[in-house]
Amino acid sequence: MAFKFSVQFVLILFCIVILTSSTPAHGVGLIDNVTQVLFNAGYKSMSLALASSLPTLLARVDLNKTTVTIFCPTDFAFGDQDYFVPPAQPPLWLIEYHVVPRKVEKVDLESSSIFPIGSKLDTLLGHSLVITTSRYIATSLNQVQIKEWDMYNDGRVVVHGIEKFLNPYYKIQEFYSILFLCLFLFVLSLVFVFTLAVVLCDKVLPIVTPFMSRMICSLRESASSDIKEWLLYHYSNYRAARKTASLV
Ligand SMILES: *[C@@H]1O[C@H](CO)[C@@H](O)[C@H](O)[C@H]1NC(C)=O
Ligand SMILES: *[C@@H]1O[C@H](CO)[C@@H](O)[C@H](O)[C@H]1NC(C)=O
Repeated sequence: MAFKFSVQFVLILFCIVILTSSTPAHGVGLIDNVTQVLFNAGYKSMSLALASSLPTLLARVDLNKTTVTIFCPTDFAFGDQDYFVPPAQPPLWLIEYHVVPRKVEKVDLESSSIFPIGSKLDTLLGHSLVITTSRYIATSLNQVQIKEWDMYNDGRVVVHGIEKFLNPYYKIQEFYSILFLCLFLFVLSLVFVFTLAVVLCDKVLPIVTPFMSRMICSLRESASSDIKEWLLYHYSNYRAARKTASLV
């Protein structure tokens, strides 16, 4: 009996050990900490979404070896997107697209030598984010600006705040086409200004020229006789000098 009891006891103990060790290595504490920090920072919607999705997502990476970077849209972004209808939660695939299984910090994204414009960051969705930062354009991914850096960063999980949801259908071509469009508009406006100047000259000069010449005439007439005499004096000196020169 005592033997049977101890076997049962050992079995139960064994089950307890199995159950505890089968909880993910990152534990519940980590997810609680991340979601709590986000909630307190005012990213309440994403905090709730991560509370239900992070256990699944973090189980897919080995946090002992890999750091996970999460890009977290603001509460405002939840009302300004086309992916789901609140109060429904964002679909898992959309959250997967906001989780990158590597450490991405401010210095990395701001350094064009580490991540030149157009370089890609793999996500848990298996579809990459595109870096659209350059020296002259604010730090962004898929042209979505990073609002807050390191809202949470314990070395294993890093969370940055972003102003909008990242669009999984984003293509870098859009970025280049916007650049191209800006350039095109710039050239077009130059051509427009140039054409306008030419047309205006054509129309305006005939009006302006007589006016200008009349003004110059009246100035000439109103010039004091002193100046006239001074000019005449120097002019005659000049003529005399030329005469002597030609004689010599
Ligand atoms: C969560 O935060 C508490 C308090 O700051 C800390 O003691 C604990 O180690 C954290 N847990 C994890 C898993 O990071
Ligand atoms: C990660 O490290 C912790 C402590 O160092 C260890 O208990 C855990 O088993 C490790 N997890 C994995 C998946 O290797």
